[in-house]
Amino acid sequence: MLASIPVMACPLLWTLVLLKVFAADCQVLVQPRIVGGYAPSPNSVKYIVSLQTSKGQHFCGGSLVHKYWVLTAAHCNMGVDQMMIVAGDYALGLYEGTEQYFKPHSLIPHPLYNKTTNNADIMLIKLRAPIDQNRYVSLAPLPRQNTGVLPGRVCRVSGWGSTSHSGGEIPPTLHTVKLPIVSTAKCNSSESFSGNITSNMICAGYSTGGKDACKGDSGGPLVCDGRVYGLVSWGNGCGDARFPGVYTAVSRFRRWIDQTIYSSFTRCYKH
Ligand SMILES: *[C@@H]1O[C@H](CO)[C@@H](O)[C@H](O)[C@H]1NC(C)=O
Ligand SMILES: *[C@@H]1O[C@H](CO)[C@@H](O)[C@H](O)[C@H]1NC(C)=O
Ligand SMILES: *[C@@H]1O[C@H](CO)[C@@H](O)[C@H](O)[C@H]1NC(C)=O
Repeated sequence: MLASIPVMACPLLWTLVLLKVFAADCQVLVQPRIVGGYAPSPNSVKYIVSLQTSKGQHFCGGSLVHKYWVLTAAHCNMGVDQMMIVAGDYALGLYEGTEQYFKPHSLIPHPLYNKTTNNADIMLIKLRAPIDQNRYVSLAPLPRQNTGVLPGRVCRVSGWGSTSHSGGEIPPTLHTVKLPIVSTAKCNSSESFSGNITSNMICAGYSTGGKDACKGDSGGPLVCDGRVYGLVSWGNGCGDARFPGVYTAVSRFRRWIDQTIYSSFTRCYKH
């Protein structure tokens, strides 16, 4: 499955196990974190979660959108038994007393997700227990169905990128970077992704490159005007001037998100 990922469509997933495969197949420059960003103050991005393997290895980001639900990218689907969700975290690998740990109850990737084209790269994770909203953990507002975000608007993407450093190194804290939205026309042009951008994607980055999301930031939030408009999805390298980062356009899926969460609760009440 992983070996079939085309050169230009590298999902921004990163586990140490998969690293070699992605590095070889996607020819990406491996960067440990958000490229060109900075560490925000602790717990300032209260809705971001770290998706980890059952062994505590970070591999993707996500956003809390309901006390029982996390929104992430479909390519972060590692199987329900292999995943753990950590809310309220800042420095991965350090216990700070603000973390909340959850096992997933179920994973719901979008039915139209296509791992060849990366279209509809979005997934909801239902938690087994509700999150406790507090000073460190809260919910992310989402955009309304089909609302766009104009090119040039500056948004902010956050993520951890990597966890496992050899002993003695400072644990990676959350990183964040501000990026302008790039028009679909430009991103889909022959100078850039040449026709591989669908209406379910948005692009963000500087025409000079240098700032971007990267491996391990997948599924994490691109926030514009306080709402999660994008999920880190794919790209070609990190911070390349020709290739901005490609994000799942969350506003295209707002109805699906609401319906999935709502129908799940209707089912719960009926049984
Ligand atoms: C994914 O998209 C490709 C290219 O459009 C198409 O050939 C393929 O059938 C799609 N796969 C699925 C599972 O829809
Ligand atoms: C577009 O996608 C096709 C098929 O996945 C791939 O062969 C091609 O290299 C991609 N081009 C760009 C610029 O992303
Ligand atoms: C991107 O370009 C391809 C090929 O020209 C086209 O089929 C597709 O609709 C374009 N995407 C968008 C969002 O306009």
